[in-house]
Amino acid sequence: MTTAFIGQPISRVDGRQKVTGGAKYAAEFHVPGLAHAAIVRSTVAKGRITSLDTAAAERAPGVVAVLTHLNAPRLAYRAHKAPVDPDVGERLHVLQDDQVSHQGQPIALVVADTLEQATHAATLVRVTYAPETATTDISQVEPVLPTRQQTDQGERRPPETRRGDPEGALAAAEVKIDQTYVIPREHHNPIEMHATIAAWDGERLTLWDKTQWVHNAADEIGAVFGIPAENIRVVSPFVGGAFGSALRAWPHVTLAALGARVAGRPVKVMLSRREMYYAVGYRPHTVQRVALGASRDGRLAAVVHDAFQETSTYEEYAEALLNASRFLHACPNVYTRHRIAPLNVHTPTFMRAPGEASGVFALESAMDELAVALNIDPVELRLRNEPQQDEFRKLPFSSRSSRECYRVAAGRFGWSRRNPEPRSMRDGRWLIGWGMATATYPMNYAPASAMARLLPDGTAEVTSAASDMGPGTWTSMTQVAAEALGLPIERVKFILGDTRLPRAPVHGGSMTMASVGSAVQAACRRAREDALARAGANDLTEAMRRLGQPVEASADVRPGDESQRFSMHAFGAVFVEVAVDPDLGETRVRRIVGAYGAGRIVNPKTTRSQCIGGMIGGVGMALMEHAVVDARNGRVPNANLAEYAVPVHADSPPAMDVIFVEEHDPHVNPLGVKGVGEIAMVGVAPAITNAIFHATGKRIRALPVTPDKLL
Ligand code: MOS
Repeated sequence: MTTAFIGQPISRVDGRQKVTGGAKYAAEFHVPGLAHAAIVRSTVAKGRITSLDTAAAERAPGVVAVLTHLNAPRLAYRAHKAPVDPDVGERLHVLQDDQVSHQGQPIALVVADTLEQATHAATLVRVTYAPETATTDISQVEPVLPTRQQTDQGERRPPETRRGDPEGALAAAEVKIDQTYVIPREHHNPIEMHATIAAWDGERLTLWDKTQWVHNAADEIGAVFGIPAENIRVVSPFVGGAFGSALRAWPHVTLAALGARVAGRPVKVMLSRREMYYAVGYRPHTVQRVALGASRDGRLAAVVHDAFQETSTYEEYAEALLNASRFLHACPNVYTRHRIAPLNVHTPTFMRAPGEASGVFALESAMDELAVALNIDPVELRLRNEPQQDEFRKLPFSSRSSRECYRVAAGRFGWSRRNPEPRSMRDGRWLIGWGMATATYPMNYAPASAMARLLPDGTAEVTSAASDMGPGTWTSMTQVAAEALGLPIERVKFILGDTRLPRAPVHGGSMTMASVGSAVQAACRRAREDALARAGANDLTEAMRRLGQPVEASADVRPGDESQRFSMHAFGAVFVEVAVDPDLGETRVRRIVGAYGAGRIVNPKTTRSQCIGGMIGGVGMALMEHAVVDARNGRVPNANLAEYAVPVHADSPPAMDVIFVEEHDPHVNPLGVKGVGEIAMVGVAPAITNAIFHATGKRIRALPVTPDKLL
């Protein structure tokens, strides 16, 4: 009997539940007396509501309540700040006044017996506005520095940094490039729509919610309603994809709770696909200037990365666009600046590798342009600029496997057979291009708790209020628990997704395995030792039989001072082959090879799946994804999956190779894991556009690279 489960490619323990429909998602819970709500949304992007006529809606069949700012209860909206919320500003206050700040803002809620009745009645609400001129286009405003410094895991992340003399070094550089890279707004588009069922029992509230952080949803709704978070239970066992969209409790969660309170019965709110483009965040539109200066022999002399992005008028959301440029490559002279452009839009948010995926697109595109200008191989250019330490924070890396990643991935890819000349490689009439880019993502580790409960029958139940939006938390935590307990994996049940369980950090920032995994391991080890000691036995099954009653142990883990002593990141290298149709401008990604140094890999099967998902996400970012915003009114004309293109199976590369280089990092966290959820997305888009340049000789700096841009 083996009990070494960490590192094994275990299949998903919840796989059968998922494919048989047994896994319940937020909108699927059966709550007696449930009413349904539809949201009426603003049709202007800025202005004031001058009249609201709800009489016809109220008379419509089945309608229970119609809520607007004229009759909705006043909400407390107490301050609440979690790492997923912007530092300054306030969340949107729903149905509290007549002001409209963005297209699609909720202005009324219709509650009815059925969804059809609510949806129909919502069309009967008559609204007039005093519209004002809205600013929805990033080119219409002068971006500004955020008014407060953004923080990232408690670490200072200033919006503007300078070391050395970047301007002087750039002016004096033997070779330089200076370009601007643009990424449009992108939406997460999880398959599962955001949904909330709210049920009050006196002053206690239960929310069945799509969320990546049950405790934060309770904290946030507690702050909004001015009630203790302890009064709120949030249940979220399964999440059908999120990629960051469910990190925060968005206004529809408040509306569900508000509707349920006024209606006096449970209420369900489920967003439509179109509403998802107005109701939850998105990856912001970014404009990034990168200037690089180098000596003829390919040493970086100057890095300038000056970026700005859109945000809403009521919140400063600023993401980590510049992190990589500050430390990824060695350079004595670096200037970075991050500005924001407040627009009449709803607040953008974290989307898979938030900041890193966008910032690294600009940096690694510029590195490729520099390699071309220097006539140096792009891998060699990066090797010549491998830093000895994190030059921004002046700290050693806890581990950094970049060289190994370049070597292994390049070898697997066959990079040495590349002819560097653009348009030199062909397959019949297709132009073939090979490109590469570097990937990096911070190792995040946050306080987490878990409990292990051993039962006399030799089974165990292990719990933590974590989420699983798809990576396989149900499975990987079961593996960690079984190994720490020394029990067969079939005898261990891991349970997540409920605020009644021990608190876990946000299921984001690639930190779940580091944080929850470490807590699960600690709780299970403690429970095992406790049971063996009490029973005076060597075998846990025998110990539990002898004790005849459950043994429980909890554990809380938290980071020490390692983040002050080390710079901790995962690193990777991504190599891509594209084929471009010279007549039609169509790009096919034929293969992707990614190598990652991400510490210990708990489950190579689910982790490989995560990486393949990240690679396909990168294909979408590079070639397809683009939420069009009508500058006149902030509308998104392609707010649907027919016109907002994402890769389907036919668009996915036929070959995707994922390699984890062996990396033992004793500094990061007790489990020695760095996380891969986000790094898998980083570097893919620039590797693709670099490959497109190699295939065609055309450098496309504005994503996505649609066929028109190549003709
Ligand atoms: Mo991730 S964008 O932190 O869900």
